[in-house]
Amino acid sequence: MKGCFEDMPTGKERRVIWRPQPRQAAFMSRPEYECLYGGAAGGGKSDALLAEALRQVHIPAYRGLLLRKTVPQLSELIDRSRALYASAFPGAEYKAVSHTWEFPSGAKISFGSMQHTQDRHNYQGRRFDFIGFDELTHFTWEEYSYMFSRNRPGPSPDGPRTRVYIRATANPGGVGHGWVKARFIDPAPPMTPVTEKLTLALPEGGTRELSRSRIFVPATVFDNQALLEADPAYLASLAMLPRAEREALLYGSWTSFSGQVFEEWRDLPEKYAEGTGTHVIDPFDPPRDWRCWRGFDFGYSRPYAVGWFLADREGRLYLVRELYGWDGTPNGGAREDPVTIARRIRQEEDSDPLLRGRQIFGVADPSIFDGSRGESIADRMARPPYRVSFFPGRNARLAGKMQLHYRLTMGAAGLPMLQVFRTCANFIRTVPALTYDPVRTEDVDTSMEDHMYDMCRYVLMESPISPAPPVSRVPRWPDPLNRNEG
Ligand SMILES: Nc1ncnc2c1ncn2[C@@H]1O[C@H](COP(=O)(O)OP(=O)(O)OP(=O)(O)O)[C@@H](O)[C@H]1O
Ligand SMILES: [Mg+2]
Repeated sequence: MKGCFEDMPTGKERRVIWRPQPRQAAFMSRPEYECLYGGAAGGGKSDALLAEALRQVHIPAYRGLLLRKTVPQLSELIDRSRALYASAFPGAEYKAVSHTWEFPSGAKISFGSMQHTQDRHNYQGRRFDFIGFDELTHFTWEEYSYMFSRNRPGPSPDGPRTRVYIRATANPGGVGHGWVKARFIDPAPPMTPVTEKLTLALPEGGTRELSRSRIFVPATVFDNQALLEADPAYLASLAMLPRAEREALLYGSWTSFSGQVFEEWRDLPEKYAEGTGTHVIDPFDPPRDWRCWRGFDFGYSRPYAVGWFLADREGRLYLVRELYGWDGTPNGGAREDPVTIARRIRQEEDSDPLLRGRQIFGVADPSIFDGSRGESIADRMARPPYRVSFFPGRNARLAGKMQLHYRLTMGAAGLPMLQVFRTCANFIRTVPALTYDPVRTEDVDTSMEDHMYDMCRYVLMESPISPAPPVSRVPRWPDPLNRNEG
């Protein structure tokens, strides 16, 4: 076998079972530890992943694992493997009970699912040289990152060593859209490797510097000539989809996707300075008499979110500063107690020139006022010396969600009623990624990283606006350099 899944031996003569198309070959030749092959539908992603898993089946110790979120979805992948693997390796046998292919060398490729996050423990104690996630945006970060611990080589006393790495495919959308985009799409342009440096504390003292690399290889249906020739009408099917879905599935856009709650969201860097037609803008120095709100959503093992908003005289809100209590991993909390959080809030308000000296109204998740089990979180934060106080926010979830929709709607002059300073990275990362709850289909999926969103809802519910945005006047600051005239 020549490193890729072509010219497979069948008896004595060789015939081509499957040959990678150019973009699939690009995916299959990447040397990075992690590689995401993603974007639009029908690009040949799943086929390439199945082929990639075969690369090391000549090594007896090789163990591969291919994952899909649910069992029914997995069966599609297994069906395709039956067609590909059986003809490429006539000696290979599929064991239906264990969902495992066994190859003549002794190598194995297993298929697995992870419907619930705790299912990841089904893989505890097992190890795999190759792990492939099909449709990575269906998985949470916890599920994906857990599998790093399962990715290691087995014993190979005399035989060849295996390569240990992770591959994934994805379409935009789904519960994992936000973290997948933040990990693979945002850090660098496509086909550009990103190297993450890690410092590991050693048990015997001292540290060791480590690095891991990853890359994003984009895919679109236009790369898959095999499909376009076999089914020319498929392009028309994609072209007929609703806008957000079409952008995602036909062109591989990661900014809009099916199931996205805040489809109105626009983040256009070329317009940050001008400040119209975009929700994200360059920071400016707001007048001192604008009203200032501090929103707060408490979290301990999940992140806590604090946001400072300023309201102009028309009632337009600007998120000017954020504080996010996380451990740097998606949806991982900083595990800080309320007094520590209060200290950090006080520090921000005393040191940030945008906030210093302003009267600030705090509004927070009403559950922090619960004093039924001792002193409430709100009381602990309001204690001296930090004295960070709040009043309880209104937790009408759907009304709050509608407020954010109304505020994100672009007014006539391209000005929405809420804009966000580009420095508020966690709001920008998490709010546009929110998707609908599969059961309560009108509401946001609360298993996602929704803390900035919740914090924002409490503030918006303090000054609700009506659905029709007021007719906006000409932008207040046509000159971006002259924005601080009140
Ligand atoms: N190199 C190839 N040679 C022949 N056929 C191919 C090749 N790559 C993909 N195909 C065929 O193209 C079709 C779409 O491929 P595949 O299912 O891998 O796409 P995908 O990107 O995973 O799609 P989706 O986004 O729907 O999951 C399948 O029928 C597949 O067998
Ligand atoms: Mg697929």
